[in-house]
Amino acid sequence: MHRSDVRKAVIPAAGLGTRFLPATKASPKEMLPLVDKPLIQYAVEEAVASGIEDIIVITGRGKRAIEDHFDRSVELEENLKGNGKGQLLSQIRHISSLANFCYIRQSEALGLGHAVLCAQRLIGDEPFAVILGDEIIDADVPGLAQLIHTYKKRNGAVLGVQTVPHQEVNRYGIVSPRPIMERLHEVADLVEKPSPSDAPSNLAVIGRYVLPPEIFPILRKTRPGKNGEIQLTDALKELSKASPMYALEVQGQRYDAGDKLGFLIATVEFALKNPSLGSEFGEYLRERMVPAKGARRTRTGKA
Ligand code: G1P
Repeated sequence: MHRSDVRKAVIPAAGLGTRFLPATKASPKEMLPLVDKPLIQYAVEEAVASGIEDIIVITGRGKRAIEDHFDRSVELEENLKGNGKGQLLSQIRHISSLANFCYIRQSEALGLGHAVLCAQRLIGDEPFAVILGDEIIDADVPGLAQLIHTYKKRNGAVLGVQTVPHQEVNRYGIVSPRPIMERLHEVADLVEKPSPSDAPSNLAVIGRYVLPPEIFPILRKTRPGKNGEIQLTDALKELSKASPMYALEVQGQRYDAGDKLGFLIATVEFALKNPSLGSEFGEYLRERMVPAKGARRTRTGKA
């Protein structure tokens, strides 16, 4: 196998989803739907469209629905078949054949770095991708595919970044960039969730990484950092001292669906793009925003 083939992706999904309580009290936040598809399916589809074959999901307590979602559902399939719902049937079957799925339980939420470390034995000695499913990237060329393309050319870790408003840098890992060419930088340094006054730039890591296996021994030694968690960013900082690391400005529209407002915005945008809903939903939004004179008509007919 060629060392630059990226075939495996890790999707951390063990988080408690506190930003969406009470919805996430007994259901995984990764299963919240954008229109009709759970968030994690967008991450899996992006990975598969980028050439990934094996998906390693890091789960925890209360996350079984994720495994069921990517498994066959024989009863449901029989029912759809019996009712002549062929199109839905093939959509449902397709989900379980997207990739090879493996699940690892992270028994304690010790941080993103620790979650990635849990995948070490399944990754072995090859480069791999990490996708954070909270961040949805809507792009012509899948976000992860853009990173893999750069990884193959440069043979060093690649982090997906985008510029964010200066006052929001404290929500992200922020890189200190040395420009190489359009949209590509070498990472001189990086810091997890700095205050705006300490941030080296406003280039934020947006939950897409292609990493060499050399990250694992570093993660093993990484001590808890920001918020008492083992931070992937801290391990990446160490790795960047030993070998070149790149930050690629990903092209595409990004939604932070891990945040209530971002989730609502993503829902509206995906609903507007949906072939069977878009035009009616758009019409509803227009009516809702600019009510006709003298009438407060709503979709339900209630005034
Ligand atoms: C994580 C990473 C952070 C990254 C962010 C992207 O933070 O630690 O470096 O910028 O994801 O979404 P979290 O959002 O899990 O707190």
